[in-house]
Amino acid sequence: MKSKKELVPSYIRHLEIYQAGKPIEELAREKNLSRISKLGSNENPLGPSPLALKELNTGLKSLHRYPDMHGYQLKSELSKLFKLKKENIILGNGSEGIMACIVRAFLAPDEEVLTSERTFIGFMVLARSVGAKLKTIPLSADFKYDIPRLVENITEKTKIIYIANPNNPTGTYISKQEFDYFMSKVPEHILVILDEAYFEFVHTQKDYPDSMDYRYDNVITLRTFSKAYGLSGIRIGYGFAHEDLITNIAKVKLPFEPNSLAQLAALGALHDADHLAVTLQNNQDRYQETIHLLTQMGIGFIPSVANFITFDMKSAENAKRLHEHLLNCGVIVRPLDKNEMPEFLRVSLGTKEEMQHFSEALRTGLIKKF
Ligand SMILES: Cc1ncc(COP(=O)(O)O)c(C=O)c1O
Repeated sequence: MKSKKELVPSYIRHLEIYQAGKPIEELAREKNLSRISKLGSNENPLGPSPLALKELNTGLKSLHRYPDMHGYQLKSELSKLFKLKKENIILGNGSEGIMACIVRAFLAPDEEVLTSERTFIGFMVLARSVGAKLKTIPLSADFKYDIPRLVENITEKTKIIYIANPNNPTGTYISKQEFDYFMSKVPEHILVILDEAYFEFVHTQKDYPDSMDYRYDNVITLRTFSKAYGLSGIRIGYGFAHEDLITNIAKVKLPFEPNSLAQLAALGALHDADHLAVTLQNNQDRYQETIHLLTQMGIGFIPSVANFITFDMKSAENAKRLHEHLLNCGVIVRPLDKNEMPEFLRVSLGTKEEMQHFSEALRTGLIKKF
């Protein structure tokens, strides 16, 4: 019989399991707290759209049926909205579910993926899980993807380039000009993954390169219902690309992903312009209040266009202590040591009450511990 070591490929053995934000119930159990503000996972603090819930309800009585594996209704809506054919759309269990299919479809062991340091770890875990090699380029001094350096590092080995725009955990974005320059330098045989999980928060910025304005055959755009649409828990995301890419991704996808309730909830959310507008307004208001608070407290932060702010505690030790203090107060933020930013913490923008909780806990943390 084979030893355990031989059963598991070394790239899986050395892979670290992705650490998501702490769940509310876990902290409540550990600390025996009743007031908890979960500001660690960039979720929509206002909850799911009421229209999504209504659609979900209608789907409950059909749970004995398998989902529509073609996602007809949702793809029809998305194709109307973005003026695309259904053949250009893929649905999945969150945008990460689609990323998992992309790495399975296009990457083989030892092939090279080019991306930035301090970007979305979920993608890196997935690329490593198929044995791919990651080449990561430092961010620029202003915490943005360094497009010129990324371009300089394209070689004949490069198979996929991953760009999160806006980036998590920095909240920065690459401009139209940078994107145009980048695309002018990327050979057509290289696949570009454009991860736009925070698209709804930024697309009104004039110089944001809305990928729907472009039609590159080697670009896959990924979007999600997890963030602005408030559906993280049900797992649904979508992608757009040339139909040849979509067909190959579909070959490795589980046939019934995303599930029927997720498809219905997404349809409802897509029609709920009011909920989206209130969400974006809350985000803007909380952003202004939070940067005001951080400035008042003398804490540096990275200007963000998304629904979170990453702030600088100047040392890993300070960040760790404040993180612990916030947890003790019932406030969950995200430590960033896994993103190679151990001196920073990331706070998602919550409701007014949640940000008040964060503000109180931050103030007592700074007074007591620093
Ligand atoms: C940049 C980025 N991409 C993708 C995801 C995953 O989103 P989903 O819930 O759609 O899998 C996240 C979640 O935090 C993210 O920050």
